[in-house]
Amino acid sequence: MIVLVTGARGMLGGQVVLEYQKRGAEVYGLSRQELDITNCEQTYTTIKKIKPEIVINCAAYTNVDGAEEEKEKAFLINGLGPRYLSLACRQFGSTLVHISTDYIFNGQANRPYQIYDTPCPINVYGASKLFGEAAVRETGGRFFIARTSWLFGPGGKNFIDTILSLARQKDELNVVNDQQGSPTYTVDLAGALADLAASKIYGTYHTTNNGAATWYGLAKKVVATAGLKTVVNPCGTKDFPRPAPRPAYSVMNPFPLKKVIGYNLPDWEDAVERYMKEII
Ligand SMILES: NC(=O)c1ccc[n+]([C@@H]2O[C@H](COP(=O)([O-])OP(=O)(O)OC[C@H]3O[C@@H](n4cnc5c(N)ncnc54)[C@H](OP(=O)(O)O)[C@@H]3O)[C@@H](O)[C@H]2O)c1
Repeated sequence: MIVLVTGARGMLGGQVVLEYQKRGAEVYGLSRQELDITNCEQTYTTIKKIKPEIVINCAAYTNVDGAEEEKEKAFLINGLGPRYLSLACRQFGSTLVHISTDYIFNGQANRPYQIYDTPCPINVYGASKLFGEAAVRETGGRFFIARTSWLFGPGGKNFIDTILSLARQKDELNVVNDQQGSPTYTVDLAGALADLAASKIYGTYHTTNNGAATWYGLAKKVVATAGLKTVVNPCGTKDFPRPAPRPAYSVMNPFPLKKVIGYNLPDWEDAVERYMKEII
């Protein structure tokens, strides 16, 4: 099987390449320099040449705060890029697996978001990712949209690494306790993406580790797992003003993932422990 991964130097892209290598696929993990998804012609010629059965789009503009200023760039990479990819996939018979985000929701829910709930982003990044979802759906090719959240894993700047490094330097940390989501390990996600693609049950899915946490709860777990004595104090989003507003609650219900791939992703605590075993 031939698989093409875009954004392959990114945190998720690198893991998806490893996952498919493990499965014995012929994998083309392309960096932005090798395939810029905002270049329509390059996107078509690359897919025409490689003829992948599956394209996993891990390329994205992921700077949530930066997107507020660089709106057009965010929409270009997160919206128009997926459209070009989707059109090229349709033309050359590839299945597109496009990665989206919990930030397409407004965070006002009081129970996990379902795949059939109506998105309503509250920041530019979320709006640009929602535009990308629509582009993929409108094209009419074979696609999966896999929404995920709060990623951590090797090869990327992530919250766990940041907290670990801060906790090693400081006696006390203040961490936001009024945003709730599902921390997700790229290793678990990459496996689920490959299983989803193999299912051929095309459509939109919620693919996160199981359970919910606040950033404070996640930081406490990191400090405890590392065996550090750092005190972690809860604080509010208002104590860390950022350019982009964040949804207060973006936990997503995985239904019907288990029906399709046979399992839900493991609990986030278990995922954090496995990741930290690798990095400590
Ligand atoms: N990280 C999270 O917490 C999180 C949460 C929810 C959803 N997601 C989604 O998960 C996916 C993967 O995220 P990630 O955390 O792995 O992101 P990442 O580490 O920032 O990787 C994104 C990659 O995309 C590349 N890229 C940017 N513009 C491109 C373009 N025009 N053409 C080709 N490649 C381009 C980047 O290359 P350069 O570095 O060279 O620009 C980078 O290697 C994204 O769709 C993201 O929206 C992430």
